[in-house]
Amino acid sequence: MNRITLPNSRTLSHMAYGVWRLSDAEDTSVTATLGRIDACLAQGITTFDHADIYGDYRCEALFGEAIKARPSLRDAIEVVTKTDIMLLSAQWPNTRVKHYDTSPAHVLASVDRSLQRIGVDVLDLLLIHRPDPLCDADELGACLDGLVDCGKVRGIGVSNYMPWDVDLLQSRMKHRLQTNQIELSLLSTAPFTNGQIAHAQQHKMPVMAWSPLGGGRLHSQARQAGTAAARLSPILARLAQASGTDTTAVAIAWLMHHSVGVLPVMGSNQIPRIEAFNQAFTVPMDRQTWYELYELANGHEVP
Ligand SMILES: NC(=O)c1ccc[n+]([C@@H]2O[C@H](COP(=O)([O-])OP(=O)(O)OC[C@H]3O[C@@H](n4cnc5c(N)ncnc54)[C@H](OP(=O)(O)O)[C@@H]3O)[C@@H](O)[C@H]2O)c1
Repeated sequence: MNRITLPNSRTLSHMAYGVWRLSDAEDTSVTATLGRIDACLAQGITTFDHADIYGDYRCEALFGEAIKARPSLRDAIEVVTKTDIMLLSAQWPNTRVKHYDTSPAHVLASVDRSLQRIGVDVLDLLLIHRPDPLCDADELGACLDGLVDCGKVRGIGVSNYMPWDVDLLQSRMKHRLQTNQIELSLLSTAPFTNGQIAHAQQHKMPVMAWSPLGGGRLHSQARQAGTAAARLSPILARLAQASGTDTTAVAIAWLMHHSVGVLPVMGSNQIPRIEAFNQAFTVPMDRQTWYELYELANGHEVP
């Protein structure tokens, strides 16, 4: 599998595996988690996307159990995790309202917890999960630079940031931001025109695409009349048949066609689906096919 080069010259696999739904799997045993990890590694998917909050703060530890069972994994993978969302959770009894916390105290403690739960000495990427309206960019920028300087984190990125949020944080940091992880799929096309992709391209920053199948709705709504998924379904099926792949592969090929460098963060828990992820690299995609799908996704032709 191709690698995507970040501004700091480190690389990630062109696809990442997201562990958000790991704790929802029928089988959450270490053996099952290792099976999913191995299905990724067999295709060259070495980048794993976490957040402190996933699975009500349990997914990092579930993944960490797999690493504990096979310590050699540590050197075979890149670990991405996120911070700043505070959920209403039994784990945080003093939290009375869902909020974001980009205070240095929270970010530093969160990184230490993530390192400990996952069982690694360093994070390849730490992302600020959501823009915090109360963010003190001077404080946060200095804190994030410090995390890179002390070696706990190899690179810093953001998630769900608009261009002005990226610019503000970057203006208070000496280290370059490495990526913006955004919701991007055939069911979420706004970033192509709302400035997020343009800004990433301007700064030569690859984007990570979360919920690249619309969280599964591209499949689950395929027969639901009036939805984008239903409009897209016949052409996705035709392109899948023509390329000997499946509709997931076509939808992901569409995403990866953009020259900015789009790294889909895949979310299936099912091993046969994971094993088929790399089929996306075999789907031919040209400009007009891309626009055909874009038109159906948006429900109208471009002006
Ligand atoms: N930064 C952020 O704010 C943010 C937000 C959300 C997610 N994320 C990241 O993005 C990752 C991926 O998100 P996601 O899980 O929503 O990705 P997704 O790939 O869009 O959706 C995955 C869901 O689609 C289902 N699915 C896949 N193929 C299917 C098929 N052929 N038919 C029916 N259902 C199918 C999966 O079910 P099965 O498991 O049964 O295959 C799973 O429930 C997360 O793990 C997380 O790392 C980040």
